[in-house]
Amino acid sequence: MKFSFSKNAVPTSGVAAILVGEGGKLSTIGAALDKKSGGALKKAMKTAKFEGKKGKTLVVYAVAGLEAVILLGAGGKKDSNTEYDIQKLGGALVPVLNGHRFVKVSVYSEEKLGAFSAEHVAAHIAYAAKLKAYYFGKYFTKKKDDEKPAFKELAAFSPNAKAAEDKFKVLDKVAEGVYLTRNVVTEPPNVIYPDSLAKIAAAELKPLGVTVEILGQKEMEKLGMGALLGVNQGSSKEPRLVVMQWKGGKASDKPVAFVGKGVTFDTGGISIKPSEGMGDMKYDMAGSGAVIGAMKALAGRKAKANVVGIVGLVENMPDGNAQRPADIVKTMSGQTIEVLNTDAEGRLVLADALWYCQHRFKPKYIIDLATLTGAITIALGRHYAGLFSNSDTLSEQLFKAGKAVDEKLWRFPTDDFYDRQIDSVIADVQNIGNEKGAGSITASKFLERFVNKTPWAHLDIAGVAWASKDLDLCPKGATAFGVRLLNQWVRDFVEGK
Ligand code: BES
Ligand code: ZN
Ligand code: ZN
Repeated sequence: MKFSFSKNAVPTSGVAAILVGEGGKLSTIGAALDKKSGGALKKAMKTAKFEGKKGKTLVVYAVAGLEAVILLGAGGKKDSNTEYDIQKLGGALVPVLNGHRFVKVSVYSEEKLGAFSAEHVAAHIAYAAKLKAYYFGKYFTKKKDDEKPAFKELAAFSPNAKAAEDKFKVLDKVAEGVYLTRNVVTEPPNVIYPDSLAKIAAAELKPLGVTVEILGQKEMEKLGMGALLGVNQGSSKEPRLVVMQWKGGKASDKPVAFVGKGVTFDTGGISIKPSEGMGDMKYDMAGSGAVIGAMKALAGRKAKANVVGIVGLVENMPDGNAQRPADIVKTMSGQTIEVLNTDAEGRLVLADALWYCQHRFKPKYIIDLATLTGAITIALGRHYAGLFSNSDTLSEQLFKAGKAVDEKLWRFPTDDFYDRQIDSVIADVQNIGNEKGAGSITASKFLERFVNKTPWAHLDIAGVAWASKDLDLCPKGATAFGVRLLNQWVRDFVEGK
């Protein structure tokens, strides 16, 4: 996809997208085009009852010497309160471009929208269009070009091209992180397995100045990571722990840390899942995908923060050597776990990854992301991720950051009585609760036993990592939920603090 930025001028060819205010109010360029076409734009708006409502579009072909004009409703003042409001305009444009098979569009941003400058608007529309136009087509060998998305190029026009481009350059790094996450989450599980994902992380991040260490089976055995290793025991592949460090802050600043669940395929193990829908479990590494993508975004835009990313990568397979229900494993922390259900494996991986993280880095905050429980989708559906935390401050920060980028979080209670439900009769802890219900909460209480009082938040992204319908800024499929959220949190609460 190509993006360019230029100074506003009345277009004379191609496809132009013009923002239209509430009530059909045309901008200067819109009015000039209307005049040139003998009032064709106004006539079309009237006939189509197009009133410039937020996100509505009207395509008018062959006017004012252009191939087409796309009238894009920007709505009224109340419709441009947040950056996300602006981004929705860019998102709305993409299906129109593909639907009409327009390859290139010129978008005109001439004046402020709400509190946002014309340049801010141009940059965020371009960014959002890139997010929405994501396409994963590498495994189609027979599709013809005209069966693939048409839209390839966006030229953004505004009063100050340089200012718009400078803003876009930063946003584009975030989009690149999102793309990386969506790619690795979408790839099939024969392509993405612990070693291949670790190699992708290294190849993507090292050139950006991120330190990447990859620990294998032997190193993890030495560290005593019996919980993570137990999950991988039935797999013919080796597990990996990837440790990424971005040092963009002051050397004296404690880092913040992101930890991701990376089960590259979750069959359930011996507690095997039903076959229907099992293929969905290729995205059980979406937490690790988001951590890797967030590291790419932060390093790409050279965030002024010290950030550690850790992903625990395993494959949960049934096999003669697989872990059994009732096995007891010993974690790096020294605590023992009775594994009563081999399908509650994410928490076993995170137990060792979280402990390793707090022990080695003493981070200011730890945020883990995991497709941890099916129960979170029962509670929240597919639009909110679950937030579980031992820190009110961190919870509030994440809540705000999530709202700003529309990766919304909802906090759950984490009272001590939930913790009693995972006390085992034979070991320190068991990996499923001993009462019905609250499965997402007991899972979080399990994780909490391995953060050693570090201020921490757990995001259960099982319901939001994969979209079954198109979203504002994402086609259906892997969403990369968490990348934009973590980036926003670092921007608003870590950098410069
Ligand atoms: N990977 C699953 C959770 C999941 C479900 C992710 C749906 C994405 C979509 C997890 O490992 C799991 O199987 N959890 C069990 C826990 C149970 C055995 C306590 C679940 O949710 O059923
Ligand atoms: Zn599972
Ligand atoms: Zn899982």
